Amino acid sequence: MNVAADNILTVRGLCKNFGALAVTQQVDLDLARGARIGLIGPNGAGKTTLVNLLTGMLSSDAGTIVIDGHHIEKAKPETRVRHGLVRTHQINTLLMETSVRDNVAIAVAERQNYAWRMLRYGPQWRACLDEAQHYLEEMRIGHAGDRRVSELPYGEQRLLEIAIGLSLKPRILLLDEPGAGIPSTEAHIIHEALESLPPDIAILLIEHDMDLVFKFAREIVVLVLGRVLTRDVPANISSNAEVRSVYLGRSVV
Ligand SMILES: Nc1ncnc2c1ncn2[C@@H]1O[C@H](COP(=O)(O)OP(=O)(O)OP(=O)(O)O)[C@@H](O)[C@H]1O
Ligand SMILES: [Mg+2]
Repeated sequence: MNVAADNILTVRGLCKNFGALAVTQQVDLDLARGARIGLIGPNGAGKTTLVNLLTGMLSSDAGTIVIDGHHIEKAKPETRVRHGLVRTHQINTLLMETSVRDNVAIAVAERQNYAWRMLRYGPQWRACLDEAQHYLEEMRIGHAGDRRVSELPYGEQRLLEIAIGLSLKPRILLLDEPGAGIPSTEAHIIHEALESLPPDIAILLIEHDMDLVFKFAREIVVLVLGRVLTRDVPANISSNAEVRSVYLGRSVV
């Protein structure tokens, strides 16, 4: 295996079939520490499936996933999180009628193996809330901590998802369409939040908003029919004739 020394994530030969549908086909993926990689491709290309395979929400049929020298392809999802592999979801998974700060504090408590239902109102819960506030501020929604999630504008709910991801202390953060469903008037807050993510975290950004991807990513991976078509710097991706014909043709980048 040819692996760069500064890789935090190394994926080789990852495969997944759903019945006759080969949805992930021999995927190789390298993420360096602090990487900023975009993952793009048509609907149904297998982007979310790849994230599900990496995080262990789905089991792979073949291939290896190595984080910082540790094979995790057979590990449980929570073990992968402990190795620093964290994702956000294409569709919101927040506790809508709970406060914004509590949503993050619960994740902080779970990270520390606290039974958070037992420790509510105790000093440990206070510490979880304080830590949660730090992540909310990092995502620029510190003002919203006391509000119910359902009261937040949708763009801020997406930022809350990322704040929860940060609270799990990721070394690799997989963001599945953080801009999905956000009105264009709010799109800039996602861009600003992505730009302010800690530089040491490796980030894989899945997005159909090409403006967001091309501003954020230093390299872009194109996935088509479960295969990596190419990986290159943004300027070469936007001028790549094959990429334009399978995906970018309709958009101007
Ligand atoms: N649990 C499943 N069982 C069977 N087929 C599935 C399952 N999950 C996904 N698929 C199929 O696998 C393919 C890839 O789906 P996936 O959700 O990974 O695509 P995607 O690239 O994330 O698309 P989008 O851009 O629309 O989010 C699709 O054809 C989808 O219908
Ligand atoms: Mg998807």
